[in-house]
Amino acid sequence: MYLLELAGTDDDFAATEAASAASDVTVVAGGLATAETLSDRISQLALTHRVSDLLGTAQPTVAAARETLESAALHRTGSVAVRARDVRGATGVSTQATERELGSVLVEAGFTVDLEDPDHELRVVFAGSPSVGDSPAADVASGADAGACAIGWLATDPPRTFTERAPTERPFFQPGSMDPTLARALVNIAGAQPGTTVLDPMCGTGGLLIEAGLVGATPVGVDALEKMVQGTRENLGTLIDEEFAVCRGDARRLPFADDAADAVVFDAPYGRQTKITGETLAALVGDALADARRLAARTVIVGDRSWQTVAEEAGWTVTAHFQRRVHRSLDRHILVLER
Ligand SMILES: C[S@@+](CC[C@H](N)C(=O)[O-])C[C@H]1O[C@@H](n2cnc3c(N)ncnc32)[C@H](O)[C@@H]1O
Repeated sequence: MYLLELAGTDDDFAATEAASAASDVTVVAGGLATAETLSDRISQLALTHRVSDLLGTAQPTVAAARETLESAALHRTGSVAVRARDVRGATGVSTQATERELGSVLVEAGFTVDLEDPDHELRVVFAGSPSVGDSPAADVASGADAGACAIGWLATDPPRTFTERAPTERPFFQPGSMDPTLARALVNIAGAQPGTTVLDPMCGTGGLLIEAGLVGATPVGVDALEKMVQGTRENLGTLIDEEFAVCRGDARRLPFADDAADAVVFDAPYGRQTKITGETLAALVGDALADARRLAARTVIVGDRSWQTVAEEAGWTVTAHFQRRVHRSLDRHILVLER
């Protein structure tokens, strides 16, 4: 059993991404989930940071954490560092007192303490109630509604490189480019991995395609504007090693054979009207979703409103809907669609 430390404030969204690389993901507290098994894709997740081998869970108090550690089978020797965390400051438990207290349990059990370069790091994570983000519905199992403490040996803490790929750092940048952390979560939810083809039919500057390429999928992009096509080619050519294809086209009638992709993922234009076609945005998104359904069995669509009815009219089944506040006047809706 594993302990996943989730990033962000929408636990269901993070857990849905985690489920692309782990089985039986269950949110046990705000920012904390457990999983039964992991795949080697775990280090590719945007919203799962540290992963630990779970030793046990307890009530969120130092005494309960101590008791759980004392009764756990430790199966390790060598030097240790105890690192405690109070996720989002939700429990108010003293992390310093926890580190001292649980450190002394490990010393009594024969470990030496090395805070600089320990053989093993013991994670002690206190967390409050799970958040539900702004999402209207969540399909991921939620295991608790009170706080918890989880203890585990750190197994992996992948380096974070997302800020290095901030849209403004890329060769081609336009306002509205998607942030790489969100883009990575979306392509993971779409199922991007080596051997798959991921299509973004409205690729803009290529934010989603960069992340699809970085997890080993073959990215294919289309945009109605030549400027975006050239810019995405430049970004992909600089940032990924995988082969890719980008062309100018209309997302409503793409020049690809049926089932050409494993997944479609796109960020629909925001606003009431598209400048590009002059038709209503709903008609554009509806036609694009109908063509997406011809091309792949799964689509992840992002928009400034819920495209649920439009997606259902295009024949899709909506399997998850997440809503994220961007600022006071903009919510982002994310729909996961299955054919
Ligand atoms: C919200 S932006 C995508 C932003 C992108 N995710 C990024 O990271 O830069 C929407 C894109 O859809 C394109 N677009 C609008 N109508 C289109 C259509 N009918 N076919 C293809 N692309 C279209 C626009 O040119 C724009 O680049």
